[in-house]
Amino acid sequence: MEKVDVLVLGAGAAGLMAAAEAARRGRRVLVLDHAAHPGEKIRISGGGRCNFTNRDLTRQNATERFLSENPRFALSALSRFTPADFIARVDRAGIAWHEKHLGQLFCDGKATQITEMLLDDLRAGGGHLWLGTEIEAVQRDGEAYLVSTSQGEILTASLVVATGGKSIPKMGATGFGYRLAEQFGLPLIETRPALVPLTFAEQDLAQCAPLSGIARDARVRHGKTVFDEALLFTHRGLSGPAILQISSYWREGHTLEIDLAPGRDIAAELAEIRQQGGKLATHNALGRLLPDKLAAGICAELGIAGRLADHGNKSLALIGDRIHRWQVRPVGSEGYRTAEVTLGGVSTAALDARTMEARQVPGLYFVGEVVDVTGWLGGYNFQWAWASGWAAGQVA
Ligand code: FDA
Repeated sequence: MEKVDVLVLGAGAAGLMAAAEAARRGRRVLVLDHAAHPGEKIRISGGGRCNFTNRDLTRQNATERFLSENPRFALSALSRFTPADFIARVDRAGIAWHEKHLGQLFCDGKATQITEMLLDDLRAGGGHLWLGTEIEAVQRDGEAYLVSTSQGEILTASLVVATGGKSIPKMGATGFGYRLAEQFGLPLIETRPALVPLTFAEQDLAQCAPLSGIARDARVRHGKTVFDEALLFTHRGLSGPAILQISSYWREGHTLEIDLAPGRDIAAELAEIRQQGGKLATHNALGRLLPDKLAAGICAELGIAGRLADHGNKSLALIGDRIHRWQVRPVGSEGYRTAEVTLGGVSTAALDARTMEARQVPGLYFVGEVVDVTGWLGGYNFQWAWASGWAAGQVA
């Protein structure tokens, strides 16, 4: 039987950080993963360049940028291991990076550099990694934990659960951490796919599917929550950063309001074109202001045909309204198959915010996406993985 001080389940972002930190403290550390490679989500993240943190994150805006039943829970870990701390680590490892928009930081080169950096830290501390290892059972054994795996039994004083959420099962997501939490009596917050494209019912799809591939800067609103980012029409509904962001707030049956030309006044712009002659067909005039297909689709939907000159301000206002205050009611999302993250998870009420240890189960820790803390798009979810993994790594 293998005996270690710290056994980490899951070699993703949070697990590798927790393991590297514990190893640095001189703990005997072993990381297990059923996948053939560590950090698979790091590898594919940020289009292969890993949007590894966000430097706009502050203590003041963190409760807005992370969703949770208790948004204040994440503050402790996030303020003890900050984006600046992770950037310093990336710099020390000699990994070149750049800032895109909204504070998002990406590697210049491959995302796998981040995984390599964490693996180097793990090795430097004498930690080990077992891949292709199935976890069969976990039992409490006095003060310790006995974990049965496809590679034999492991006895550990501290057990860190970093098996992620349910998103992208094809990449190894299993929901294992939730079952383990239940086994030890920890409460769960209902999970749902987040940062995910939204889908339309057939009738809306008939209008939108022909627009598939068109991208716009848009303003998407759900109640008081607003995102100004790109929107993409897809053959199933809507995607793009603005939609992924709002998907974390949207619920079945809710309506979204979308402005397809924020900061402009399309009715006034059409009126100006009309004043200059207006012999153009209305959809062609609108096609000067928006992509042709979108312009034609909107005119057809509103039943506005013929020359622009023949339309009064009422028609122009109708067009403006459709563009600036488009009401859409998605029927669902693309689900865990494409969701970047999982909302909900192990209730923060059951965890110590400073250490991530289960309050009622000494030696059992939950870090990363498995916890009910979900960030905005843009590097926030990795920052949570680093910060929560770091927190557990200081004490496990
Ligand atoms: P993560 O899912 O990374 O790791 C869990 C590990 O546990 C995996 O290695 C898995 O194989 C293993 N595991 C699961 N079940 C197991 C079992 N039963 N037995 C053994 N091992 C098991 N975030 C961000 O901040 N910036 C970005 O650019 C992106 N981009 C992005 C793109 C795509 C396509 C996706 C799907 C997601 C992102 N994200 C992101 C989100 C980010 O990837 C996510 O928040 C973190 O990977 C979560 O880290 P964890 O370590 O918690 O889980």
